Amino acid sequence: NYYAILMAGGVGSRFWPVSTQDFPKQFHDMLGTGDTLIQKTFHRLADLIPKENIFILTNERYNDLVLEQLPEVTQRQVVLEPAMRNTAPCILYASLKIQKENPNAVMIVAPSDHWIEDEQTFSKNVKQAFDYCTNNNALMTLGIQPTFPNTGYGYIEFDKTSTSDIKSVNQFREKPDYETAKSFINQGNFLWNAGIFMWSVKSVVEAFKNNQPELFKLFESGMSAYNSDEEVRFIKENYPKAENISVDYAIMEKSNNVFVIAAEFDWNDLGTWGSLYDKLNKDKSDNAVVNARTLTDEATGNMIRTKKNKIAVIDGLKDYIIVDEDDILLIFPKSKEQDIKKVLQNVKHKF
Ligand code: GDD
Ligand code: MG
Repeated sequence: NYYAILMAGGVGSRFWPVSTQDFPKQFHDMLGTGDTLIQKTFHRLADLIPKENIFILTNERYNDLVLEQLPEVTQRQVVLEPAMRNTAPCILYASLKIQKENPNAVMIVAPSDHWIEDEQTFSKNVKQAFDYCTNNNALMTLGIQPTFPNTGYGYIEFDKTSTSDIKSVNQFREKPDYETAKSFINQGNFLWNAGIFMWSVKSVVEAFKNNQPELFKLFESGMSAYNSDEEVRFIKENYPKAENISVDYAIMEKSNNVFVIAAEFDWNDLGTWGSLYDKLNKDKSDNAVVNARTLTDEATGNMIRTKKNKIAVIDGLKDYIIVDEDDILLIFPKSKEQDIKKVLQNVKHKF
């Protein structure tokens, strides 16, 4: 009864120029290991879940990329969105399809572009969650110990008095402002939301029905079309009508049956070049170099990715991002990595 929904519809614009609208980061080998991020994620899940029960949710423009990179997947498993509407609409749509196939399904919803190295512990935590969700009406999250008031994450307030591994959640708060995030961290019983969810199909459909009645009605009205020839036509016409909202705001903030397991594995959402740098192996001067071979010794702390065979960096260059992809070369101080979206906006039309 185990299923997975892999979300692979994001654009990853902070990883420009490698990640682009035509070829987003989940389809790239960001770690220099030979596998793309979506391949890594698929194989991590295939340890736990029958391959044919893993569904990939993505924009229709990435259909060929998915089938090419995951040859073990058939077209039935690629759920295509004709418009970008964030994660709530696609999760509801895919859940209704899965429910039609198997009303007793228990599933994981996972991003396709995160870094998780310790697959055994990941599997252990997901199994715990699956067991719980099989027997309880629960929306299960994986919580990460926070280290600073990051305003780009969801925050999970867990029940302090609970001694069990699975804790009930008092409050789920998506992307609080800086002051709120700071006060959450000071309170000690808050975790970051890893963006990985587990639940029975029955529980998630129920949560949408109660908290997003409009969205629910829209997709439920197509129920009879799902898994039939009519489906594509229904989705083409109706998907763009869906509200643009993430699953975090749509159901997680509003539900009172949210639970959390503190993740025992190291996790990184690979949001920026700097976070990728943190996870890559470094040379003896602390440079992370993907695909290139040589580098001068005294340059330190740089993140370098290039298809050139060799790259030379002058002594003293410190904490820079250097990315050489096709006909674009990006050179950027690591401290300014958040501005990359702005830069992209400014240069896009000139290139
Ligand atoms: N199929 C599909 N369609 N996937 C999408 C879409 C869409 O329209 N939009 C986003 N995704 C995918 C992204 O590629 C990513 O893998 C995942 O869904 C989450 O979307 P993000 O846009 O990266 O979300 P976020 O980072 O702002 O916030 C989420 O993740 C954080 C942890 O990384 C939330 O769940 C936060 O609460 C959480 O802390
Ligand atoms: Mg993200």
